[in-house]
Amino acid sequence: MARINDNYLKLKAGYLFPEIARRVNAFAQENPDANIIKLGIGDVTEPLPQACRDAMTNAIADMADRSSFKGYGPEQGYLWLREKIAVNDFQSRGCAISPDEIFISDGSKCDCGNILDIFGKDNKIAVTDPVYPVYVDTNVMAGHTGEANDKGEYEGLVYLPISANNDLTAQLPTESVDLIYLCFPNNPTGATATKEYLESWVNYAQKNDAIILFDAAYEAFITDTSLPHSIYEIEGARECAIEFRSFSKNAGFTGTRCALTVVPKTLKGKASDGSEVELWKLWNRRQSTKFNGVSYIVQRGAEAVYSDAGKAQINELVSFYLENAQIIREELTKAGLTVYGGVNAPYVWVKTPEGLSSWDFFDKLLHHVNIVGTPGSGFGAAGEGYFRLSAFNSRDNVIEAMKRITTNMNFN
Ligand code: MLT
Repeated sequence: MARINDNYLKLKAGYLFPEIARRVNAFAQENPDANIIKLGIGDVTEPLPQACRDAMTNAIADMADRSSFKGYGPEQGYLWLREKIAVNDFQSRGCAISPDEIFISDGSKCDCGNILDIFGKDNKIAVTDPVYPVYVDTNVMAGHTGEANDKGEYEGLVYLPISANNDLTAQLPTESVDLIYLCFPNNPTGATATKEYLESWVNYAQKNDAIILFDAAYEAFITDTSLPHSIYEIEGARECAIEFRSFSKNAGFTGTRCALTVVPKTLKGKASDGSEVELWKLWNRRQSTKFNGVSYIVQRGAEAVYSDAGKAQINELVSFYLENAQIIREELTKAGLTVYGGVNAPYVWVKTPEGLSSWDFFDKLLHHVNIVGTPGSGFGAAGEGYFRLSAFNSRDNVIEAMKRITTNMNFN
């Protein structure tokens, strides 16, 4: 019989969001008339920007004509898209990122997991707690951890706790680690990072020869002009950071699929013989071998994000979800709850009331007012006693959800 990857047996239950969906489906089956509003998974609800739709329609027309038809594209992505990203997302902010350091992919969730292909087994890995579960689970799958304890913490990982006492941002590790996952604006807490804070991480990485895996999937939600959007705004980051970005949340591509990963050519890792190796070469090799690129049609849609019309439409979309976040913050505060995040981020992080556990509060909201959120404990042990609400929904649903909470549940 074929041997399995035993590391999968170490994983706790199901992945968080399918587990929530399972519980919600069970509730819906028992209560078929319940009008359930989902503010759980951060999935967009508003239509794709017109500029992206037009570009994809034109791209379909290209595919209908032999002279403009496209077969396999470059595994790294089409240069016309990578050039636009380099100029608009990076060079315009003073980051010296060139198009050939940008790799187009079908999602930053996938890339956050796939990146482990180019790293060895013996790295010391730091994650924040709470954390986007993909960083942890993919390390478990890759055999980089031992078993989980009762709190769900995996042996071998270095957990950096986040709490309201430390502005919802993790402190630097007190030991030397090799890989560090950072996510700003943060999923799940909605916290942001100042330039000084990111500088402290880049300094740490330089001193400890560590690499920062920087997830900037929510950077478009930063409205505070003092906050950095990219780790490469910090001097020295080209030598110590990989950045992940996505078109999912800014342009509504969760179902369309397009993202990018930046691997600077100046970034190096160490081989077992002690020699230094360019990580760019390894990632390029990995992508050319295991990936055949994102579809031409989708890349044309992503390119339109950088047109004048696309930029305006994306600003509107982002503002729309940020207004939702503001409504959620204001209404929950009125209901007597303590809230964090939701200002430069689409997630609102809520302290559960009355000492309820995260899952108890999940059940209470689902059963009393038919609203779905995400239990903070699903993001890690330090998320216990917190709850995440996503601002990705229609305005009507957000208003209705908040009305149900403020009318039926008072925590003052
Ligand atoms: C979330 O809800 O945390 C996100 O939707 C997950 C993701 O983007 O993969």
